[in-house]
Amino acid sequence: MPEIRVALVGVGNCASALVQGVYKYTDINNSPIGLVHPNLGGYTPKDIRFVAAFDVDERKVGKDLSEAIFAEPNTTPKFQEVPYIGVEVLRGPLLDGVGGPLAELVKVSDEPECNVVDVLRRSGAEVVVNLLPSGAMQASRWYAEASLKAGCAFINATPAPIVNDPHMAGQYRKMGLPLVGDDLMDQVGATVIHRALLDFLVRRGVRVLETYQLDVGGGAEALETLTRAKDAKREVKTAAVKSALPYAAPVVAGSTDYVKFLGNRRESYFWIRGLYFGETELSLDIKLRTVDGPNAGSVLLDAIRCAKIALDRGIGGPLVSISAYAFKNPPERAPLELAEKWLEAFLRGERDS
Ligand SMILES: NC(=O)c1ccc[n+]([C@@H]2O[C@H](COP(=O)([O-])OP(=O)(O)OC[C@H]3O[C@@H](n4cnc5c(N)ncnc54)[C@H](O)[C@@H]3O)[C@@H](O)[C@H]2O)c1
Repeated sequence: MPEIRVALVGVGNCASALVQGVYKYTDINNSPIGLVHPNLGGYTPKDIRFVAAFDVDERKVGKDLSEAIFAEPNTTPKFQEVPYIGVEVLRGPLLDGVGGPLAELVKVSDEPECNVVDVLRRSGAEVVVNLLPSGAMQASRWYAEASLKAGCAFINATPAPIVNDPHMAGQYRKMGLPLVGDDLMDQVGATVIHRALLDFLVRRGVRVLETYQLDVGGGAEALETLTRAKDAKREVKTAAVKSALPYAAPVVAGSTDYVKFLGNRRESYFWIRGLYFGETELSLDIKLRTVDGPNAGSVLLDAIRCAKIALDRGIGGPLVSISAYAFKNPPERAPLELAEKWLEAFLRGERDS
């Protein structure tokens, strides 16, 4: 049976949705709802096996992964029962993992730190998925280095520049290990919807004059994107949205408030003003309501399977196609349709990365 051995760094809301998803989508023959690629390059979600997990929160460290994903302060909803997995969440090094107002939400465990490289090696992990908080720049880098030492592929869902760091990319290339990222782009999140709307309007001859995308959320991540990671996240989001326009126009994209009672829910407001035939003005107001964790699930399942395919083929360094398809700040940006074509070509073995 094919198997993809995965280690998780950060057992927060995205990790919760990912783990639940692996157990939900065990039968891909009955048109699974919400999963973009039931079978990707010969791998299905069922092939994913979690072999290690790291966190720093005392409510997660020491617990089985199946239990830790539902521990506070995680607020992503339970949509799937998860059986005992047999993977204990271990205490990783803190570094800058928790800081600013996030420190009030995370209770740092006083358990001794494990030896991450050793655990990765002993667990047989092949793919490490980095799901640390947005502001954990040093810690993300530290785990990328640990993953490299342990001989694993690395997926960076955070905005920390890992794939975009030429030194790190070179190291992964040299070691023949795949690198995917940076900053995950949700399945149906604000950035991808904003890009699709702008692309549609441009193709219909509209001259976009100005646009914004503002959102509010209530999870730990919503707090991060307003404090420690505010500038980094806003920069990446704005650049991703701007890339949908073939000309310069004022674009604002970022989080604007933290509303605790929203939990893992996110409310995104879009505004677009433009000109169509006869230079007649149009404006568009849209509100999107989503839940953050599950929005990461399908794309993470794709990224994990692409990393495994690259390992099977002996491909190292940044994976351009899956990064352009599923991440907001890839090493090479492409319009959504082109990124999909790149991914299909990669899966057929017609592209190296
Ligand atoms: N749909 C989405 O939620 C989405 C979309 C795009 C990008 N992302 C990115 O994914 C990442 C994870 O998001 P989330 O909502 O799961 O965050 P979260 O805050 O729910 O989870 C982060 C986890 O990391 C743990 N942690 C903190 N410091 C640590 C350390 N040093 N070592 C190990 N664990 C540590 C925390 O205790 C927590 O369990 C973020 O960087 C976010 O920007 C998420």
